[in-house]
Amino acid sequence: MVAPSPERHLLNHSLAMALLSWNLHVFQPALALRRLGLYRPATLGDRPEAGAPRGGGPDLSLRHAQPVLLPGEPEGYESVRAFDDVAHLYEAVVRPFSDPIVDETVALMRPYLAPSARILDPSAGTGQAAIRLSRLVPEGEVVAADLSRGMLEQAHEGARRAGCRNMAFFQADVARPPAAFAGYFDAIFCCLSFHHYPDGAAAARAFRGALAPGGRAFVADAGPAWFVELARPISMLADPGFVRHRTGEEFQRLFLEAGFSSVFWIEALPGIGVTIASA
Ligand SMILES: C[S@@+](CC[C@H](N)C(=O)[O-])C[C@H]1O[C@@H](n2cnc3c(N)ncnc32)[C@H](O)[C@@H]1O
Repeated sequence: MVAPSPERHLLNHSLAMALLSWNLHVFQPALALRRLGLYRPATLGDRPEAGAPRGGGPDLSLRHAQPVLLPGEPEGYESVRAFDDVAHLYEAVVRPFSDPIVDETVALMRPYLAPSARILDPSAGTGQAAIRLSRLVPEGEVVAADLSRGMLEQAHEGARRAGCRNMAFFQADVARPPAAFAGYFDAIFCCLSFHHYPDGAAAARAFRGALAPGGRAFVADAGPAWFVELARPISMLADPGFVRHRTGEEFQRLFLEAGFSSVFWIEALPGIGVTIASA
């Protein structure tokens, strides 16, 4: 592990404070207002009717007990190298912010998940959400993927410690998935990662290609235009490998152009949208 420079240390600290403060001062009051019926999230498009296709059941998790790694250093690795360096402190910095977002996204997914569903988390990071999802599909499986080897190794260790057997781990660039992913998944869960992808259109096409008929992609990321503007300076300074955030309208367009049949977007928490793209 390389010790961070004093500048990187300060940026990590600033990002941690910004994320914690947004949870305390924005997410928590919004959740309290919602309990009172006073927070009504903005939406775009029609919410798909609840109902889960029969899941494909476990296969990759039965065949791969160990992480499947790419040979050497894959193309584009420089965009995630910083995640290798921060993998050990990622949880402490990001979870206070990401936990409520994962809660909301999982709640939105549940009506569409059969217990035998196969779920892909294409940028699983340290794997906490993927571990949680694996418990929702006891007769299915979760494949946790990430381009960063350091993050993937943390995710694998965490899952083994948590005793999750119905999981597999793949090092993969979101836009260049392994052949085994083609048409394999019933759902994709992608949290706080889309803004890191250098080619969002290629990622959206890869999601479409990885879904079985009737499958859906659930993408949580910074959302409406006001938040995109507000978050840009700190994201550019402190978020390793930041590329760009998107508005709900941009997500809608991107996923329709990638071949999805319908796209619903909801501002699940202030500043955070969840896109539900149906194959
Ligand atoms: C901010 S973290 C989010 C991790 C996790 N989803 C969460 O919510 O905590 C972004 C993740 O995206 C991964 N990532 C960035 N670019 C990627 C790419 N091209 N392909 C796959 N994963 C990528 C990073 O390695 C990192 O683990």
